[in-house]
Amino acid sequence: MSARAVASAPGKVILFGEHFVVYGVPAVVAAIELRARATACAREDRLVRVVAPDLGFSCLFGPEGFEVERGGGEAEEALRPIFVAVDGVRRALGRGEGLELHVNSSIPIAAGLGSSAAVAVSASAATCALLGRGLDKELVFKAAFEAEKLVHVSPSGVDPAISTHGGIITYKRGVGIQKLEIGAPLELVVGDTGLKRSTGALVSAVRALRDRRPELFGRLLSAAEELVSEAVEALKKGDILAVGELMNVNHGLLSAIGVSNLALERLVHAARTAGALGAKLTGAGGGGCMVALVEEGRGRGVAEAIEAAGGRAFVARIAEEGVRIEG
Ligand code: MEV
Repeated sequence: MSARAVASAPGKVILFGEHFVVYGVPAVVAAIELRARATACAREDRLVRVVAPDLGFSCLFGPEGFEVERGGGEAEEALRPIFVAVDGVRRALGRGEGLELHVNSSIPIAAGLGSSAAVAVSASAATCALLGRGLDKELVFKAAFEAEKLVHVSPSGVDPAISTHGGIITYKRGVGIQKLEIGAPLELVVGDTGLKRSTGALVSAVRALRDRRPELFGRLLSAAEELVSEAVEALKKGDILAVGELMNVNHGLLSAIGVSNLALERLVHAARTAGALGAKLTGAGGGGCMVALVEEGRGRGVAEAIEAAGGRAFVARIAEEGVRIEG
Protein backbone atom coordinates (compact mmCIF):
# COMPACT_ATOMS: atom_id res chain seq x y z
CA MET A 1 0.00 0.00 0.00
CA SER A 2 1.36 3.46 -0.91
CA ALA A 3 1.36 6.20 1.73
CA ARG A 4 -0.86 8.69 -0.08
CA ALA A 5 -3.07 8.87 -3.18
CA VAL A 6 -4.94 11.80 -4.73
CA ALA A 7 -7.85 11.62 -7.18
CA SER A 8 -10.16 14.16 -8.79
CA ALA A 9 -13.54 13.84 -10.53
CA PRO A 10 -15.72 16.27 -12.50
CA GLY A 11 -19.20 17.69 -11.95
CA LYS A 12 -21.84 17.50 -14.66
CA VAL A 13 -24.78 19.06 -16.45
CA ILE A 14 -27.68 16.94 -17.63
CA LEU A 15 -28.56 18.02 -21.17
CA PHE A 16 -31.60 15.74 -21.52
CA GLY A 17 -33.64 13.31 -19.45
CA GLU A 18 -33.27 14.16 -15.74
CA HIS A 19 -36.02 12.69 -13.55
CA PHE A 20 -37.28 10.56 -16.46
CA VAL A 21 -33.96 8.65 -16.18
CA VAL A 22 -35.14 7.37 -12.78
CA TYR A 23 -37.89 5.45 -14.68
CA GLY A 24 -35.61 3.97 -17.35
CA VAL A 25 -35.49 6.73 -20.00
CA PRO A 26 -31.88 7.37 -21.11
CA ALA A 27 -30.30 10.67 -20.08
CA VAL A 28 -27.69 12.67 -22.00
CA VAL A 29 -25.06 14.15 -19.69
CA ALA A 30 -21.87 16.19 -20.05
CA ALA A 31 -19.03 16.33 -17.54
CA ILE A 32 -17.84 19.87 -16.83
CA GLU A 33 -14.48 21.21 -15.72
CA LEU A 34 -15.32 21.82 -12.09
CA ARG A 35 -13.71 19.11 -10.01
CA ALA A 36 -13.87 17.49 -6.57
CA ARG A 37 -10.59 16.25 -5.14
CA ALA A 38 -9.83 13.60 -2.51
CA THR A 39 -6.58 12.70 -0.79
CA ALA A 40 -6.33 9.31 0.94
CA CYS A 41 -3.58 8.43 3.45
CA ALA A 42 -2.92 5.27 5.44
CA ARG A 43 -3.67 5.05 9.20
CA GLU A 44 -2.19 2.68 11.74
CA ASP A 45 -5.63 1.59 13.11
CA ARG A 46 -8.83 0.42 11.38
CA LEU A 47 -10.74 3.71 11.58
CA VAL A 48 -11.68 6.04 8.72
CA ARG A 49 -11.44 9.79 9.32
CA VAL A 50 -13.22 11.92 6.71
CA VAL A 51 -12.40 15.63 6.68
CA ALA A 52 -13.87 18.42 4.52
CA PRO A 53 -11.64 21.36 5.55
CA ASP A 54 -13.50 23.94 3.43
CA LEU A 55 -16.76 23.13 5.23
CA GLY A 56 -15.15 22.79 8.68
CA PHE A 57 -16.40 19.17 8.96
CA SER A 58 -14.56 16.18 10.40
CA CYS A 59 -15.84 12.72 11.44
CA LEU A 60 -14.29 9.45 12.55
CA PHE A 61 -16.02 6.22 11.47
CA GLY A 62 -15.28 2.78 12.89
CA PRO A 63 -16.86 -0.64 13.41
CA GLU A 64 -18.33 0.52 16.75
CA GLY A 65 -19.94 3.69 15.43
CA PHE A 66 -18.84 7.21 14.66
CA GLU A 67 -17.64 10.36 16.35
CA VAL A 68 -18.22 13.87 15.02
CA GLU A 69 -15.00 15.83 15.57
CA ARG A 70 -16.12 19.09 13.94
CA GLY A 71 -19.40 20.35 12.44
CA GLY A 72 -22.17 18.57 14.42
CA GLY A 73 -25.04 16.62 12.81
CA GLU A 74 -24.55 18.39 9.49
CA ALA A 75 -21.01 17.01 9.31
CA GLU A 76 -22.19 13.44 9.87
CA GLU A 77 -24.85 13.82 7.17
CA ALA A 78 -22.33 15.23 4.67
CA LEU A 79 -19.44 12.89 5.45
CA ARG A 80 -21.14 9.51 6.02
CA PRO A 81 -21.73 8.94 2.25
CA ILE A 82 -18.00 9.45 1.71
CA PHE A 83 -17.29 6.83 4.37
CA VAL A 84 -19.77 4.49 2.62
CA ALA A 85 -17.86 4.95 -0.67
CA VAL A 86 -14.47 4.36 0.94
CA ASP A 87 -15.72 1.36 2.92
CA GLY A 88 -17.32 -0.09 -0.24
CA VAL A 89 -13.92 -0.06 -1.94
CA ARG A 90 -12.22 -1.55 1.15
CA ARG A 91 -14.75 -4.37 1.35
CA ALA A 92 -14.63 -5.13 -2.38
CA LEU A 93 -10.85 -5.48 -2.09
CA GLY A 94 -11.12 -7.54 1.11
CA ARG A 95 -9.18 -4.94 3.08
CA GLY A 96 -9.80 -3.43 6.49
CA GLU A 97 -7.01 -0.97 7.18
CA GLY A 98 -7.74 2.54 8.43
CA LEU A 99 -7.66 5.60 6.20
CA GLU A 100 -7.64 9.40 6.34
CA LEU A 101 -9.69 11.02 3.60
CA HIS A 102 -9.53 14.77 2.89
CA VAL A 103 -12.04 16.10 0.36
CA ASN A 104 -12.69 19.47 -1.25
CA SER A 105 -14.63 20.60 -4.27
CA SER A 106 -15.07 23.57 -6.58
CA ILE A 107 -18.57 22.35 -7.56
CA PRO A 108 -21.45 24.31 -5.98
CA ILE A 109 -23.27 22.12 -3.42
CA ALA A 110 -26.95 21.13 -3.86
CA ALA A 111 -27.16 22.99 -7.17
CA GLY A 112 -27.73 20.16 -9.67
CA LEU A 113 -24.10 19.95 -10.83
CA GLY A 114 -23.33 16.56 -9.28
CA SER A 115 -21.15 17.71 -6.41
CA SER A 116 -21.96 14.84 -4.00
CA ALA A 117 -21.30 12.24 -6.72
CA ALA A 118 -18.00 13.86 -7.75
CA VAL A 119 -16.83 13.85 -4.12
CA ALA A 120 -17.83 10.17 -3.70
CA VAL A 121 -16.19 9.22 -7.00
CA SER A 122 -12.92 11.00 -6.17
CA ALA A 123 -12.89 9.48 -2.64
CA SER A 124 -13.50 5.96 -4.02
CA ALA A 125 -10.75 6.41 -6.62
CA ALA A 126 -8.23 7.74 -4.11
CA THR A 127 -8.98 4.74 -1.86
CA CYS A 128 -8.64 2.32 -4.80
CA ALA A 129 -5.26 3.80 -5.69
CA LEU A 130 -4.05 3.86 -2.07
CA LEU A 131 -4.95 0.17 -1.65
CA GLY A 132 -2.94 -0.74 -4.75
CA ARG A 133 -5.84 -1.38 -7.15
CA GLY A 134 -5.02 1.55 -9.48
CA LEU A 135 -8.02 3.19 -11.15
CA ASP A 136 -10.74 0.52 -11.30
CA LYS A 137 -13.61 2.56 -12.80
CA GLU A 138 -16.20 -0.18 -12.37
CA LEU A 139 -15.46 -0.43 -8.66
CA VAL A 140 -15.27 3.36 -8.29
CA PHE A 141 -18.72 3.75 -9.89
CA LYS A 142 -20.26 0.98 -7.74
CA ALA A 143 -18.89 2.37 -4.46
CA ALA A 144 -19.90 5.95 -5.34
CA PHE A 145 -23.39 4.77 -6.36
CA GLU A 146 -23.86 3.20 -2.90
CA ALA A 147 -22.86 6.55 -1.37
CA GLU A 148 -25.35 8.37 -3.61
CA LYS A 149 -28.17 6.07 -2.44
CA LEU A 150 -27.61 7.44 1.04
CA VAL A 151 -27.70 11.07 -0.18
CA HIS A 152 -30.55 10.94 -2.71
CA VAL A 153 -32.74 8.00 -1.56
CA SER A 154 -33.37 6.32 -4.97
CA PRO A 155 -31.01 7.85 -7.51
CA SER A 156 -30.66 6.54 -11.05
CA GLY A 157 -26.85 6.45 -10.92
CA VAL A 158 -26.43 9.04 -13.67
CA ASP A 159 -24.32 11.40 -11.52
CA PRO A 160 -21.62 8.90 -10.44
CA ALA A 161 -21.60 7.47 -13.99
CA ILE A 162 -20.72 10.76 -15.69
CA SER A 163 -18.28 11.76 -12.95
CA THR A 164 -16.49 8.42 -13.41
CA HIS A 165 -16.38 8.39 -17.21
CA GLY A 166 -16.31 12.08 -18.25
CA GLY A 167 -17.04 13.46 -21.74
CA ILE A 168 -20.61 13.34 -23.03
CA ILE A 169 -22.51 10.11 -22.45
CA THR A 170 -25.92 8.56 -22.55
CA TYR A 171 -26.84 6.72 -19.35
CA LYS A 172 -29.67 4.23 -18.92
CA ARG A 173 -30.50 2.94 -15.48
CA GLY A 174 -29.56 -0.72 -15.07
CA VAL A 175 -27.88 -0.77 -18.49
CA GLY A 176 -24.97 1.65 -18.18
CA ILE A 177 -23.24 4.27 -20.25
CA GLN A 178 -22.39 4.90 -23.86
CA LYS A 179 -19.89 7.57 -24.93
CA LEU A 180 -21.49 9.98 -27.37
CA GLU A 181 -19.44 11.33 -30.28
CA ILE A 182 -20.97 14.69 -31.08
CA GLY A 183 -20.84 16.33 -34.50
CA ALA A 184 -20.14 19.92 -33.37
CA PRO A 185 -18.64 21.53 -30.27
CA LEU A 186 -21.19 22.66 -27.68
CA GLU A 187 -20.88 26.05 -25.98
CA LEU A 188 -22.82 25.77 -22.74
CA VAL A 189 -23.65 28.44 -20.18
CA VAL A 190 -24.65 27.41 -16.67
CA GLY A 191 -26.78 29.74 -14.54
CA ASP A 192 -27.19 29.15 -10.80
CA THR A 193 -30.30 30.47 -9.04
CA GLY A 194 -28.40 30.20 -5.73
CA LEU A 195 -31.37 28.28 -4.23
CA LYS A 196 -30.18 25.06 -2.59
CA ARG A 197 -32.53 22.09 -2.75
CA SER A 198 -32.65 18.37 -2.06
CA THR A 199 -32.54 15.98 -5.01
CA GLY A 200 -34.10 13.23 -2.89
CA ALA A 201 -37.13 15.41 -2.03
CA LEU A 202 -37.66 16.37 -5.68
CA VAL A 203 -37.35 12.77 -6.89
CA SER A 204 -39.93 11.78 -4.22
CA ALA A 205 -42.31 14.57 -5.30
CA VAL A 206 -42.13 13.34 -8.92
CA ARG A 207 -42.77 9.76 -7.72
CA ALA A 208 -45.86 10.96 -5.84
CA LEU A 209 -47.14 12.63 -9.05
CA ARG A 210 -46.54 9.37 -10.95
CA ASP A 211 -48.47 7.43 -8.30
CA ARG A 212 -51.39 9.89 -8.45
CA ARG A 213 -51.52 10.03 -12.27
CA PRO A 214 -49.88 6.87 -13.66
CA GLU A 215 -51.39 7.08 -17.16
CA LEU A 216 -50.58 10.71 -17.73
CA PHE A 217 -47.09 10.18 -16.31
CA GLY A 218 -46.64 7.21 -18.67
CA ARG A 219 -47.38 9.48 -21.64
CA LEU A 220 -44.84 12.03 -20.39
CA LEU A 221 -42.28 9.22 -20.10
CA SER A 222 -42.95 8.20 -23.72
CA ALA A 223 -42.53 11.83 -24.80
CA ALA A 224 -39.24 12.03 -22.88
CA GLU A 225 -38.02 8.81 -24.52
CA GLU A 226 -38.82 10.18 -27.99
CA LEU A 227 -37.21 13.52 -27.12
CA VAL A 228 -33.95 11.92 -25.95
CA SER A 229 -33.69 9.73 -29.02
CA GLU A 230 -34.14 12.81 -31.30
CA ALA A 231 -31.64 14.73 -29.19
CA VAL A 232 -29.03 11.97 -29.53
CA GLU A 233 -29.43 12.03 -33.33
CA ALA A 234 -29.18 15.85 -33.42
CA LEU A 235 -26.04 15.76 -31.22
CA LYS A 236 -24.39 13.13 -33.42
CA LYS A 237 -25.12 15.19 -36.54
CA GLY A 238 -23.95 18.40 -34.86
CA ASP A 239 -27.34 20.03 -35.55
CA ILE A 240 -27.15 22.53 -32.70
CA LEU A 241 -30.34 24.35 -33.72
CA ALA A 242 -32.27 21.11 -33.22
CA VAL A 243 -30.41 20.39 -29.96
CA GLY A 244 -31.41 23.83 -28.63
CA GLU A 245 -35.03 23.40 -29.65
CA LEU A 246 -35.18 20.00 -27.96
CA MET A 247 -33.68 21.48 -24.77
CA ASN A 248 -36.60 23.92 -24.71
CA VAL A 249 -39.05 21.03 -25.12
CA ASN A 250 -37.28 19.14 -22.33
CA HIS A 251 -37.65 22.15 -20.05
CA GLY A 252 -41.39 22.10 -20.79
CA LEU A 253 -41.62 18.45 -19.76
CA LEU A 254 -39.76 19.21 -16.53
CA SER A 255 -42.17 22.07 -15.81
CA ALA A 256 -45.02 19.64 -16.46
CA ILE A 257 -43.79 17.32 -13.70
CA GLY A 258 -43.49 20.25 -11.28
CA VAL A 259 -39.74 20.68 -10.81
CA SER A 260 -39.29 24.17 -12.25
CA ASN A 261 -39.89 27.33 -10.25
CA LEU A 262 -39.92 31.09 -10.74
CA ALA A 263 -36.18 31.54 -10.15
CA LEU A 264 -35.35 28.92 -12.80
CA GLU A 265 -37.93 30.29 -15.26
CA ARG A 266 -36.39 33.77 -14.96
CA LEU A 267 -32.93 32.52 -15.85
CA VAL A 268 -34.16 30.20 -18.63
CA HIS A 269 -36.13 33.02 -20.26
CA ALA A 270 -33.29 35.55 -19.82
CA ALA A 271 -30.96 33.15 -21.66
CA ARG A 272 -33.44 32.58 -24.49
CA THR A 273 -34.12 36.31 -24.84
CA ALA A 274 -30.34 36.93 -25.05
CA GLY A 275 -30.14 34.58 -28.03
CA ALA A 276 -29.51 31.12 -26.54
CA LEU A 277 -30.47 28.32 -28.95
CA GLY A 278 -32.12 26.50 -26.08
CA ALA A 279 -32.28 26.62 -22.28
CA LYS A 280 -33.58 24.32 -19.58
CA LEU A 281 -33.21 23.57 -15.91
CA THR A 282 -30.55 20.94 -15.25
CA GLY A 283 -30.47 18.29 -12.51
CA ALA A 284 -33.28 17.91 -10.04
CA GLY A 285 -34.70 21.46 -10.36
CA GLY A 286 -36.58 23.28 -7.58
CA GLY A 287 -33.73 25.84 -7.61
CA GLY A 288 -30.14 24.98 -8.42
CA CYS A 289 -28.98 25.44 -12.00
CA MET A 290 -30.14 25.86 -15.58
CA VAL A 291 -28.09 25.29 -18.72
CA ALA A 292 -28.21 27.13 -22.05
CA LEU A 293 -26.78 26.13 -25.42
CA VAL A 294 -25.41 29.07 -27.39
CA GLU A 295 -23.79 29.69 -30.76
CA GLU A 296 -19.99 29.65 -30.59
CA GLY A 297 -18.66 32.87 -29.06
CA ARG A 298 -22.07 33.94 -27.63
CA GLY A 299 -21.49 32.49 -24.14
CA ARG A 300 -20.37 35.66 -22.39
CA GLY A 301 -23.37 37.68 -23.60
CA VAL A 302 -25.83 35.01 -22.45
CA ALA A 303 -23.99 34.68 -19.12
CA GLU A 304 -24.34 38.45 -18.60
CA ALA A 305 -28.08 38.26 -19.33
CA ILE A 306 -28.46 35.45 -16.77
CA GLU A 307 -26.59 37.53 -14.19
CA ALA A 308 -28.77 40.56 -14.94
CA ALA A 309 -31.78 38.32 -14.19
CA GLY A 310 -30.36 37.47 -10.74
CA GLY A 311 -28.31 34.32 -11.36
CA ARG A 312 -24.62 33.51 -11.16
CA ALA A 313 -23.38 32.32 -14.55
CA PHE A 314 -20.33 30.81 -16.20
CA VAL A 315 -19.39 29.34 -19.56
CA ALA A 316 -18.85 25.62 -18.89
CA ARG A 317 -15.98 23.66 -20.41
CA ILE A 318 -16.67 19.99 -21.11
CA ALA A 319 -14.37 17.71 -19.10
CA GLU A 320 -13.27 15.00 -21.53
CA GLU A 321 -11.63 13.09 -18.70
CA GLY A 322 -13.70 11.63 -15.88
CA VAL A 323 -12.13 10.51 -12.63
CA ARG A 324 -8.33 10.51 -12.61
CA ILE A 325 -5.46 9.80 -10.27
CA GLU A 326 -3.43 12.95 -9.72
CA GLY A 327 0.34 13.21 -9.49
C1 MEV B 1 -30.00 14.41 -10.51
O1 MEV B 1 -28.76 14.91 -11.00
C2 MEV B 1 -30.76 13.75 -11.62
C3 MEV B 1 -32.11 13.17 -11.23
O2 MEV B 1 -32.64 12.56 -12.41
C4 MEV B 1 -32.01 12.14 -10.13
C5 MEV B 1 -31.29 10.87 -10.57
O3 MEV B 1 -31.28 10.55 -11.75
O4 MEV B 1 -30.75 10.20 -9.69
C6 MEV B 1 -33.09 14.25 -10.79
